[in-house]
Amino acid sequence: MKHLNNIVTNFQESIFSTMTKLAVENQAINLSQGFPDFDGPSWVIELAAKALRDSKNQYAPSFGILPLRSAIAANYKRFYNLDYDPMNEVLVTNGATEAIYCTIMALVNPGDEVVVFEPFYDSYLASLQLARAKVIPVTLNAPDFTYKVEELNKAINKKTKLLIINNPHNPTGKIFTKAEMILLAELAVANDFYILSDEVYEFLTFEQAHIPTATYDNLKERTVTISSTGKSFGLTGWKIGWALGHSDIIKTIHNVHQFTTFCVAHPLQVAMAQALLNMDDYLIDFKKSYLGKRNLLVKGLNEAGFNVLNPAGTYFAMALLPDGKNDIDYCQWLIKEKKVATIPTSAFYIKSDEGSRMIRFCFAKTDETLNAALKNLSHF
Ligand SMILES: Cc1ncc(COP(=O)(O)O)c(C=O)c1O
Repeated sequence: MKHLNNIVTNFQESIFSTMTKLAVENQAINLSQGFPDFDGPSWVIELAAKALRDSKNQYAPSFGILPLRSAIAANYKRFYNLDYDPMNEVLVTNGATEAIYCTIMALVNPGDEVVVFEPFYDSYLASLQLARAKVIPVTLNAPDFTYKVEELNKAINKKTKLLIINNPHNPTGKIFTKAEMILLAELAVANDFYILSDEVYEFLTFEQAHIPTATYDNLKERTVTISSTGKSFGLTGWKIGWALGHSDIIKTIHNVHQFTTFCVAHPLQVAMAQALLNMDDYLIDFKKSYLGKRNLLVKGLNEAGFNVLNPAGTYFAMALLPDGKNDIDYCQWLIKEKKVATIPTSAFYIKSDEGSRMIRFCFAKTDETLNAALKNLSHF
């Protein structure tokens, strides 16, 4: 038999699947994979049930149903004062993951240089490899996960085609500072590159409001803003995401989307179109609840002897391991001996070895789950 695709056969199983499997095998409490262990809001689920009964069960328009595109655009105007035309600047995708894949395919030619901050969400690298991009990592350094200006300046040049940023940032919980963003904006203009801005944790910020990349001077026309409803509504299984940007770019991203998945689950789009326009009250409780969970986990872990780096956003917290410990061994030990599953963060790095000295906890869990995990982790 002839060889299968070289790039794809080299992909490894995602670290999230590996750790979740190990957690199940060891009956460990799963604080590894990033999804809630509780259901999304019942009023949103009811909207989907109604849409299913109302015969919204055939293919949706490939760009997404217009009410959803209009609701997405209305929210960017309301929350961030950003104008996007729902007719040609908004594309609905199967989660942020498909938006990321389609954007990379739409923008990157083989050999193009793409700058990525590490640690990074693992789908970036896979999509970039499929596009045959030249990946240039820039490390966000613990404990505050800032980039080194010299390293960034060295990574970026006139050949840079795209920079990928995730803000608020998984796995570190970092929110990029205004100064960091302004420098990125200056470099983007000076070197004429695009920005893929993954903002799926836009509503999970604790002490400060989210500032989209596209709001910085001169960035709107060169930025593809990607987000989804998975984290914001605790409905990760619905996979409703989007890409927003200049109409020429969105048209090209759609060219990929139409031959990848064509469209997104129709009844779920109908429900989300209504949910997005009615999320203000929901968001107040949502943020309060996650702030409580962050504080519970961070305080409990610190009391248990971990050195936790307090996250400003997302539903993840990183902990620095004691000297001499390695993340993979440590995670396996935690699962087997303490019955708590976490993520070894070296999987999110390709340049620095900092990841091997940290592990990631997810606090998108009920308080009961978090307390049970903290109980297991106490008494080191
Ligand atoms: C940074 C980041 N981007 C994208 C995604 C995927 O989002 P979706 O489930 O909408 O595809 C995740 C999910 O964990 C994520 O952490």
